[in-house]
Amino acid sequence: MGDEQKREDPTVRELERRVAALLGQEAAVFVPTATMANQIALKLHSRPGDVLLAEKTSHVLVYEYGGAAAHAGLMSHGLTGVGGRITRGQVRDAAAPSTKIADQRAAVLSLENTHNNSGGRVWPLAELEGVVATARELGLAVHLDGARLLNAAAALGVEPVTFASRFDTVTLCLSKGLGCPLGALLAGSEELIERAWREKHLFGGAMRQAGIVAAAGVYALDHHVDRLADDHARARRLAGALADANIAVDLERVETNFVQVDLAPLGLDRAAALASLRDAGVGLSATIHPTVIRAVTHLEISDEDIDRAAELIPRTLEIATPVAAGLELESK
Ligand SMILES: Cc1ncc(COP(=O)(O)O)c(C=O)c1O
Repeated sequence: MGDEQKREDPTVRELERRVAALLGQEAAVFVPTATMANQIALKLHSRPGDVLLAEKTSHVLVYEYGGAAAHAGLMSHGLTGVGGRITRGQVRDAAAPSTKIADQRAAVLSLENTHNNSGGRVWPLAELEGVVATARELGLAVHLDGARLLNAAAALGVEPVTFASRFDTVTLCLSKGLGCPLGALLAGSEELIERAWREKHLFGGAMRQAGIVAAAGVYALDHHVDRLADDHARARRLAGALADANIAVDLERVETNFVQVDLAPLGLDRAAALASLRDAGVGLSATIHPTVIRAVTHLEISDEDIDRAAELIPRTLEIATPVAAGLELESK
């Protein structure tokens, strides 16, 4: 179907056009991963030695292997957020100009919506707009790590364009809630995306026969967007059932498709708890928070799966050995 490196593949082009339109941006470029999309964006917005501002547990700061420094030569300034959100005041303080004339400058602000490490939390629109406006006043470029932005839009009940169009660049991931085997897009102005193409080649992310995977993206846009609300409803149902079984789940925080379970009140060792759950047939995963594990709902999780998980998780966690008891046994 043509060589994607030469921008010939019609399916890749269609996907790029559709995602640009969906996000209210002029253009988009298809890349293998959301990490690559973020890394390209950071490079576009900065010079080596500039400063990146982001919430301190955001994906660009904690899961991208120092890519901001390695690829763009950025220094990172992590801001302490609440529910993954930072304030206008924090951005203003962090971007305060140096007293020297040609010192390093804060160049780019990256926001994450939904925010992974806070448990898939969503930015209220007014708050997001306020922080973006402040960043613009300060002359910062603004990037949205919207790997799960369609989950955010579904939770808010708005079109993605409502908030995605306010950013200079936007990452959208296809391999998470949208259920594709791989792929992500970076969207922005014609000019920025033209520059992004060069970075994509530099990263080795130009994929030649990429139409076959882009087709999954087109399919997902047609069939897997409206159903994201079902994932959210299932996550809430699971969270409610776990809370009823006295498992530490903060229902207020279940805004999208993640359910975070705190093992601390149960005194359970995380690795042991995850292994027991896996043996029982429920896959949960670790998070950045030492005692918290996470369940995710997605297109392969049905209502019946939620019923099973709601039964198996409390039963399994109750019989998992508490840390203290385990230590006592070991010392005997
Ligand atoms: C918010 C966020 N951004 C970016 C990524 C990176 O995605 P990928 O694994 O496609 O590189 C993730 C992955 O979990 C994520 O949660």
